[in-house]
Amino acid sequence: MSIYDQAMAALSTVIEPELNRDIVSLNMVKDLKIENGVASFTIVLTTPACPLKNVFLERCNAALLPLNGIDEVEIRWDANVPKGLHGNLSMPIQNIIAVASGKGGVGKSTVSTNLAVSLAEHGARVGLMDADILGPNIPTMMGLGFARPRVADVDGVSKMVPFEAYGLKVMSMGFLADPNTPMIWRGPMLHSAIRQFFTDVIWGDLDYMVVDLPPGTGDAQLSLAQSVPLTGAVIVTQPQDVAVEDARRACVMFDKLNVPLLGVIENMAGEIYGMGGGEKLAQERQLPFIGRIPLQANVREGGDNGKPVAVVEPNSPAGEAFRTIAQSLAARVSVVAMSKADVIPLNIIG
Ligand SMILES: Nc1ncnc2c1ncn2[C@@H]1O[C@H](COP(=O)(O)OP(=O)(O)OP(=O)(O)O)[C@@H](O)[C@H]1O
Ligand SMILES: [Mg+2]
Repeated sequence: MSIYDQAMAALSTVIEPELNRDIVSLNMVKDLKIENGVASFTIVLTTPACPLKNVFLERCNAALLPLNGIDEVEIRWDANVPKGLHGNLSMPIQNIIAVASGKGGVGKSTVSTNLAVSLAEHGARVGLMDADILGPNIPTMMGLGFARPRVADVDGVSKMVPFEAYGLKVMSMGFLADPNTPMIWRGPMLHSAIRQFFTDVIWGDLDYMVVDLPPGTGDAQLSLAQSVPLTGAVIVTQPQDVAVEDARRACVMFDKLNVPLLGVIENMAGEIYGMGGGEKLAQERQLPFIGRIPLQANVREGGDNGKPVAVVEPNSPAGEAFRTIAQSLAARVSVVAMSKADVIPLNIIG
């Protein structure tokens, strides 16, 4: 057997832990070359925010280095994010992730912002949509303030150009309405505003669209679920019982709307609100626990100053938590997307 065939055979013993299949039959190995004892190849991941790079690195080394003729392994990384939408969408968006909670003020907008900037930092193409039409906070948290979006012509139709910050695209009602005037809108108007944020904004190709929802289990949640096929919703809760009660209601609502739940994130863990409520909820609903963010002043400051902590203080406990959460959620989205594919996953990763 040629050294190339031996190497391929060895790589087909390397298992992708979340999909539980080998990386060769998953079509993740590309452009394998062996020259002067160096085996070099590309691994095509299902997300650029893959938390398993080190695992692959170790497993590929362990499989290849024992072969006669290979002394070194060189891996290049690439990613091809599979489509995880529950239905058809006419736009080139691979995944739509709603960030929700039953209760107000638990950190949905903070999580949406930090999640989106972390995914973008990994190289993913990301959009952040502020679906909190009545109380938009994303412009402030993204450091964009109040500005009007540009309008551009697309095939004779006027569309809005989203703002860009921290490597991602952003749209919010905060760019369209006077920041000091409260908006008093009824359900149908909310519905059309959310629809228009999809249809009338030039998003372009996106791997992930993160949607920041308002609190509660009402019109906006319903509108979103009815307007576009979501990959799923992630539930944010504070650790304490009353927050968890509201988060539980949100879980039930998404179940009724047939929106898959991606998992639970616990925010503001620490002395004041305690710890563990999010994990308990995840267990109770048999959902993945995506991660926990501590209650820390730099998170709030980052929100107020438009400097997301995941970017400006990546090594602080909260910054690290957000980045790990972004990776875990991206991995979870890939698993959900792949489990929907009829033919796993040759036509997706290839
Ligand atoms: N982990 C944290 N540590 C400290 N402060 C936080 C943390 N998470 C969020 N905050 C702060 O708590 C406040 C509420 O957060 P945020 O606006 O993200 O919540 P929300 O769930 O989106 O609220 P609403 O329901 O009103 O939309 C903000 O001032 C934010 O900066
Ligand atoms: Mg909010």
